Amino acid sequence: MTQDQEKIIQQTADHLREKFTGEGTGHDWWHMKRVWDNAKRIGQAEGADMFIVELGALLHDIADWKDHDGDLSVGPRVAGEWLTSIGIDRETIEKIKHIVENVSFKGAGVKNGMASLEGKVVQDADRLDAIGAIAVARTFTWGGSRGRLLYDPDFKAEMHESFEAYKNSTSSSLHHFYEKLFLLKDMMNTATGKKLAEDRDRFMHQFVDQFLAEWDGKR
Ligand code: NI
Repeated sequence: MTQDQEKIIQQTADHLREKFTGEGTGHDWWHMKRVWDNAKRIGQAEGADMFIVELGALLHDIADWKDHDGDLSVGPRVAGEWLTSIGIDRETIEKIKHIVENVSFKGAGVKNGMASLEGKVVQDADRLDAIGAIAVARTFTWGGSRGRLLYDPDFKAEMHESFEAYKNSTSSSLHHFYEKLFLLKDMMNTATGKKLAEDRDRFMHQFVDQFLAEWDGKR
């Protein structure tokens, strides 16, 4: 990476840190920072263009659809506006917008539209933050922010076949493990991402087993 590119990355990180510090739903600056760190590790191992990877990772949640009534066009637009404002060329902006547009999980049965290696790296980095100990914490934090129950034993997990159905789901936080988090390990794009996902996935299964055993007074 050139010195100019490094400066742009740092400028973008500073901007996001200022804008998203104290955001309380799990999509705060520290999520962006963790995804950025994961993306550096995966992208270097996979030989990706690190300028695109790092910008894409930093900007991937700049305007999440979950906070904008399910509107998927807000993220790419806001990312594009930021990159234009700091003088990034058009071709690079299009690459980043493609990543921001396709990064999110949209339901168990919905096809992944990510085409570039850099996008696949960012998607793996983001998914990795949705698997493991931090994922457990984030799931209940996010559920709490939406008034969801920790668990509802009368409810059955749903495999959402459309983004619409996934978006409007009202299942409990624990069901989110079955509807999304346990599926992510097998959805990783890169060999490096798959490897990193295994340990985290194992931990999450342990957590849910313990949770359900305690729920039934068995442990
Ligand atoms: Ni994210």
